[in-house]
Amino acid sequence: MSFISVKPGTLLNPTPVVMVSCAGDALRPNIITVAWAGTVNSDPPMVSVSIRPERHSHDIIRNTEEFVVNLVNRPLLKACDLCGVRSGRDHDKFALCGLSPVPVAGLLHAPAIAQSPAYLACQVKEVLPLGSHTMFIGEIISMGIEESLMDQAGKIDFHKADLIAYSHGEYVGLTAAEGFFGFSIARPEVIKRRMRK
Ligand SMILES: Cc1cc2nc3c(=O)[nH]c(=O)nc-3n(C[C@H](O)[C@H](O)[C@H](O)COP(=O)(O)O)c2cc1C
Repeated sequence: MSFISVKPGTLLNPTPVVMVSCAGDALRPNIITVAWAGTVNSDPPMVSVSIRPERHSHDIIRNTEEFVVNLVNRPLLKACDLCGVRSGRDHDKFALCGLSPVPVAGLLHAPAIAQSPAYLACQVKEVLPLGSHTMFIGEIISMGIEESLMDQAGKIDFHKADLIAYSHGEYVGLTAAEGFFGFSIARPEVIKRRMRK
């Protein structure tokens, strides 16, 4: 390898792209598209979303200490992009995108998006002003999964979900698996069975 040194930046891609819903006391529910999101803890389960202070959603989440992370699949993609280029200050984004807010267990304000394949309802545990963005770390206190994504064993079948990721400015589909957790040390028959799915 022969590396060329480049300016440090947000090279770490792909990331998930999610629609984060929130709502204030006297404010209509809103949706912001977020690519700077990630899983940050397993027990308790926690995720982070990083949001610029100038976004309409920023103060709603800071004040209510609640947000919902809605996963994005192919049918939701256009709405996802629209929620990332229009502000809730000027638009009712639920109406604009033909989406419906639904209440979620454990939260007082933030609704989920009914059309999303899965949601993670979060209570803010940490607020970290990092510079350009504020990172909100939320504990997941309830989740909802679209019924048709559950298999017969009661497990989530993510192959059916048709989820979308974000990579260097583009939305990308998740295609066939190239491996699975621990495949490097799995027995050949296990690899054969798992990779057939
Ligand atoms: C694909 C995509 C990813 C985005 N990721 C982020 C992000 O991680 N953090 C952020 O503050 N804004 C992000 N944005 C921009 C906001 O979604 C956008 O400014 C939005 O209009 C803010 O809505 P609001 O003013 O209603 O909160 C992203 C936009 C797009 C299209």
